[in-house]
Parts: sequence; C-alpha cells; structure tokens
Amino acid sequence: MAYRLFEGKEHASIYQQYRFTPPSGLKDVIIQYLDKKKGQPHVLAVDLGCGTGQHTRLIAPHFKEVVGIDISDFQLEEARAVPGYANITYRKGTAEELPFEDGTVDLLTAASAAHWFDPTRFLLEADRVLKSRGCMALLGFTDGNIRLNYKDCGEKLNHIYQEVKELLRPYTSSPVAASESKLEDLYSAIPYPDKERIESFKCKSMISIRTLVGFISSWSMYNSYKRKDPQGAEDMLAKIQKRFLDEMGVTSVDTEIEREWEYFCVLASKPQ
Ligand SMILES: C[S@@+](CC[C@H](N)C(=O)[O-])C[C@H]1O[C@@H](n2cnc3c(N)ncnc32)[C@H](O)[C@@H]1O
Repeated sequence: MAYRLFEGKEHASIYQQYRFTPPSGLKDVIIQYLDKKKGQPHVLAVDLGCGTGQHTRLIAPHFKEVVGIDISDFQLEEARAVPGYANITYRKGTAEELPFEDGTVDLLTAASAAHWFDPTRFLLEADRVLKSRGCMALLGFTDGNIRLNYKDCGEKLNHIYQEVKELLRPYTSSPVAASESKLEDLYSAIPYPDKERIESFKCKSMISIRTLVGFISSWSMYNSYKRKDPQGAEDMLAKIQKRFLDEMGVTSVDTEIEREWEYFCVLASKPQ
C-alpha cells in the first residue's frame, strides 16, 4: 500500500518552507561510512522520498550525480524550483520500483521517508540497484526527547509541544510510529550482515516560533486532522502559536528559541 499524505500543492509548499535540512554532521558520518565500506568513486546517489529536496541538496557535492525520487508531483515541483544544483535530477517514482539498472547505485538514502515504504519490496529493490559494497542510509528524527529553550520558560514550551503531539496522536499513522521507533523493524529486516544503527545524533539550532508552528503544520498527522476538520486544525495552530508567545512574553512570531533534538540513522552495506 502506498501512503499518499504529502501530495497536495499546499502541503508541498509548507514542506519547502518549514522542513529542516538534516544535520551536516550526520551527512559527514554517512559519507565516511560509504568511504569505509565501498570507497571512491562516488558516482551515483539516489535520495528516496526526497520531498522538496533538502537532503538531496545536502549530499549533492559528494557525488557525480544525484537523483531525487518521490511519488508526489508537487513535492518534486518545489524541489526542481531550487536553482544551483547542476548534478541533481528529480524523477517521479517509488522506492519499491526504481528506474536504475542492476548494480549501479553507490548510495541510497531516505530522509524521514523510509517508514512510508513497503519494507519487503523496498529492500529487494535496494539490493537489486546497489553496487557491490554500495550502502544505504535511512535517517530521520525523533522528537520524543525534543527540548525547547527560551529564558526560564523552556519547560512550559516543551509541555505545550508535547500537548500538541498528544492531541494529534489519534491521527498518527502506523508508519509514523515506525519512524518514532527509529526504524527498528526495517533495520531487523535488512538482510545484510554489515549493518549498524546510530540511535542518537544530537543537534541544536535556533528557530523562530513562526518556523516551529510551520513545522507542526507539515506533520502528516496534522494534515490528517486538517482533512477531517479544516477549521479546527487552523484554530489549533493559531492557539498553539499564541500560547508559545504568551509563555515567552513576546508578540513577534520571529522571536527565536533554541531547539535541541535527535536524529537516528540506519546504515547498511551490500555484501561483495
Ligand atoms: C516526510 S516526507 C520527507 C521528505 C524529505 N526527504 C525531507 O527530509 O523533508 C516523505 C516523502 O516521502 C514520499 N514518499 C512516500 N512514500 C513513498 C514511496 N513509496 N516512494 C517514494 N517516495 C515516497 C512522500 O511523497 C514525501 O515527499
């Protein structure tokens, strides 16, 4: 079954504005892993479920060619609109049926996307297209341990954030729950002996309240809620934004707070 929760034009535009690029330090770990397992040259990387291309652009400097694959036309349209990446092409397709010859791909990545794939079909297809000793890197973030810091009201901001998650829990699909478990089942299903997991790659950045609320509006569970109750969903966002600002004692949505959170990554290398 293909999940089609990211297809709308508006959702794609929210993605382009509010989704975060994964940490550059984690990208370095992935490239080092590829170097260790397969070595140079880095010819072709394929970023699956590329969305609007944040991760595709991050890895582009390390490869001769990078292809971003996504099932959503609108996501791809947003990705293609970003100029300056001559070695990237974006193609419509699925992770379960890839438009590459056998044994031609050096690195397969999926950022916040592998939990949406059919695991059995994806792993078979990955095995078909990867070169010998080629690698896969399936990364994502978990915000169970997220910390929001602003002066002395961090605890209250964290509390509001967790409340939103609780409120949207009934709209959480099972793939999102799989991501929250750091792709445990998918990791177990990878048939390669050479595999490892990075459980917690910590990062810290400043974000505005506008971006934080925009990020919440990009969640699939928020969009499931919005489909059911458009007005209720919009009101909820406005209320959350006001509560954040009130707790902080400020009025500008451009006020920045510190956010600490964690990424995970499943790494595996195809045997020779
Ligand atoms: C949560 S978004 C992540 C997008 C981007 N990689 C990022 O880090 O922001 C998941 C993306 O996976 C795509 N997707 C879902 N199922 C897919 C599949 N079976 N094959 C390819 N793409 C898929 C969706 O259209 C969506 O753009």
